[in-house]
Amino acid sequence: MPEQNPYFEAKSLSAGVYNRNRGRVFHFFRNVSFKIDKDEVVGLVGESGSGKTRLGLSLFGLLRDGPGLYSGSLNFSLSDTPKIHFDFGDPHSSSGLRRGLRPVLGRRMGLIMQGAKSALNPYQTIGTQLKDTLQLAGCPASDLSNVSEQLYKAFSLSSKQDSISNRYPFALSGGQAHRVMIALGFAMGPDLLIADEPTTGVDSPIQALILQHFKAFRSGELGPRRQEGRPRPSMLFITHQIDLMKGLTDRVMVMYCGELLEVCKTRDLGHLPHHPYTERLLEIALETGGRRHLHSIPQIAGRMPVMYDPPKGCVFADRCSMVKEHCWKVKPELTTHEAGHQVACHERGGDDA
Ligand SMILES: Nc1ncnc2c1ncn2[C@@H]1O[C@H](COP(=O)(O)OP(=O)(O)OP(=O)(O)O)[C@@H](O)[C@H]1O
Ligand code: SF4
Ligand SMILES: [Mg+2]
Repeated sequence: MPEQNPYFEAKSLSAGVYNRNRGRVFHFFRNVSFKIDKDEVVGLVGESGSGKTRLGLSLFGLLRDGPGLYSGSLNFSLSDTPKIHFDFGDPHSSSGLRRGLRPVLGRRMGLIMQGAKSALNPYQTIGTQLKDTLQLAGCPASDLSNVSEQLYKAFSLSSKQDSISNRYPFALSGGQAHRVMIALGFAMGPDLLIADEPTTGVDSPIQALILQHFKAFRSGELGPRRQEGRPRPSMLFITHQIDLMKGLTDRVMVMYCGELLEVCKTRDLGHLPHHPYTERLLEIALETGGRRHLHSIPQIAGRMPVMYDPPKGCVFADRCSMVKEHCWKVKPELTTHEAGHQVACHERGGDDA
């Protein structure tokens, strides 16, 4: 796995939304630092509400602007494009980032959004959206219909009797819209693809198929032809199913309550030192054979803290079976152990252990 030339780096990133009724900021995520290397797939996993989608959207400047809502910085060093450095801080951070990223959006950097239907353009047919996306990606005119057909076929979007290319998004089922969204993400042929829950809400065989397609996209078998010498796409793969990490991702980041609690190579998942939260996610995935969607984790007593007043100590303390007195008072920092394995836990080799 490559360790140099990060395509993308986020440093101490925090974001939130101001709630007028409460007169306070709700924190989506706090102090998150991570990188994605060239030719690397990073998984972001955590249960519902942990801030995964907001983190993904923030990288594109898609969160609402407002004073005091953001801090941190982003660096984009995609192949053959000028480096982009962005410091959050002013009240128009998010729209500023959107403008700054215009030259790289699409062909260099793409997003598969969660909630497919609302993310599709309601005024254009699927065929037009797919064709426009492929053209923007630099797909030669002679390849357009072949690549479109390949994507329709891969995602079961056309048959002899029925093709969805002439339909508008309102006329698609939820599952079709979901698959169209992924096909459009691939059609961009980006160097860095952020995919938010692409396998959520579909049954197991479709899930396996979608994962296979992600692998085919990476290897260049699916989507527009990549220019010679262009690296394989890097990805941030967001999911709440930890069992999907193996076989697709190189590294995994475990997020809870807007914080990264563990970052490690995928092959080190479950190897000590690991975070008690990761441990529970792995146990539950094992118990359920990966079949159940982990929208909630009833097996863990307690609830995720509400992020108006983030706890002073460990965010997982309320649900952790290993909690000690000092966990409530002192925040465990994400600490690097051997081979880049980072864990934020006092009892698992954290800073205070
Ligand atoms: N506009 C908003 N105002 C207040 N809270 C919000 C707003 N948007 C999102 N949230 C809250 O921010 C938190 C993080 O949301 P986010 O969508 O990033 O979670 P997630 O990890 O992607 O969850 P899921 O797995 O369900 O997609 C959640 O608690 C959510 O309820
Ligand atoms: S720091 Fe304490 S409460 Fe937090 S995960 Fe570790 S043992 Fe549990
Ligand atoms: Mg989400």
